Amino acid sequence: LWTPGRIIDDSIERVREQVGDDHVLLGLSGGVDSSVVAALLEKAIGDQLTCVFVDTGLLRYQEGDQVMATMAEHMGVRVIRVNAAERFFKALEGVEDPEDKRKVIGRLFIEVFDEEAGKLEGVKWLAQGTIYPDVIESAGGKTGKAHVIKSHHNVGGLPERMNLKLVEPLRELFKDEVRRIGVELGLPREMVYRHPFPGPGLGVRVLGEVKAEYVELLQKADAIYIEELRRHDLYDRVSQAFAVFLPVKSVGVVGDGRAYDWVVALRAVETIDFMTAHWAQLPYEFLDHVSRRIINELRGISRVVYDISGKPPATIEWE
Ligand code: XMP
Repeated sequence: LWTPGRIIDDSIERVREQVGDDHVLLGLSGGVDSSVVAALLEKAIGDQLTCVFVDTGLLRYQEGDQVMATMAEHMGVRVIRVNAAERFFKALEGVEDPEDKRKVIGRLFIEVFDEEAGKLEGVKWLAQGTIYPDVIESAGGKTGKAHVIKSHHNVGGLPERMNLKLVEPLRELFKDEVRRIGVELGLPREMVYRHPFPGPGLGVRVLGEVKAEYVELLQKADAIYIEELRRHDLYDRVSQAFAVFLPVKSVGVVGDGRAYDWVVALRAVETIDFMTAHWAQLPYEFLDHVSRRIINELRGISRVVYDISGKPPATIEWE
C-alpha cells in the first residue's frame, strides 16, 4: 500500500541512489511543491542540499519571512534568501500590459536565480518540484504553472550552462499525494493546503503598472481577507481567494473629511480544475465585516467591491 510514509521512504532511497555524494541546488518558491521537495531532500541528503529563495517582493504579506521561518528555522534546510524586491519594482516601472509584466517578472526571476546559483560551487544537480500533472500538461501560455522556477528553468538554460542534471522526486505524484507527504514530512498543514498562487504573484494582482506602494496596500488587504476566511472556517470551502488592487480613485468619507482613495476587489471562486469556476457565494455579513476592516485599517483604500464573475467568461485572476 502506498501510504505517505512508504512514498517518502521510497523517494529518499531513490534520491540517495541517484545523487550519491553530490551537491544539489533547489529553487524554493514558497509554494507547496518546491517546499515538499526541500523537506524531502533535507531528509534524504541533508547538508548536500542548498536552496535559493528569490524574494521578488511580489509575494503575499510577510510570506518571505514565513518561508524562511518554516524551511530554514523549523525544517533545518539551508536556504539562501535573495531580497530582490527593488530590482523587480524597478524592472516593472512603466510596464502595464499583463503579458509584458509576466515576461519581465519571469526573465528577471531567472536572472536573479542564475546569478545566485553561479556563486555556488560543486553543484551537480538541480532539483525541481515537477509533479505528475506538470509532466502531462502541455507547457506554456498564461497558466505556465505556479512554479516559475520550474517552467522557466528550461527556458533559462541553467541546467545546460551549469551542466546540471535534474532530480525530480515528485514526478510521479498527484497534488493530493504531494500534500499528504508534505504533512508527513512535518510541513505545517496550513502551508501545505494553501490556495494556489500565480508565479508572477502580486505582479498580476496590482492591475496595470506595479508600484511598491500599491503592493504594500494589497498585501495588507489580502492578509485581512485571508485571515477572516480562516477565522470563519471559509478558507477551505473555497478553491482560491485573494484581493486585487485597482488603481482607480474613489471618493469616500473619513471622519469629517473627504477621502479620495484606491479600490480593492475581493475574489473567491469554487472550482475543481481551475478551467471553469463559479464565484463563491460568501455570506453578506462576512463580506461586510471584511470590507469594514480593510477600509478602517488601511489608509489609502476607500472602497471594497466583490467580484461576481464566473469563469468563463472571466478568468480567475484579473490579469
Ligand atoms: P486564470 O486567471 O487563467 O487562472 O483563470 C487559472 C489558475 O492559474 C493561476 N494563474 C497563474 N499561475 N502563472 C501561474 O503560475 C501565471 O501567470 C498565472 N496566471 C493565472 C491562477 O491563479 C489560477 O489558479
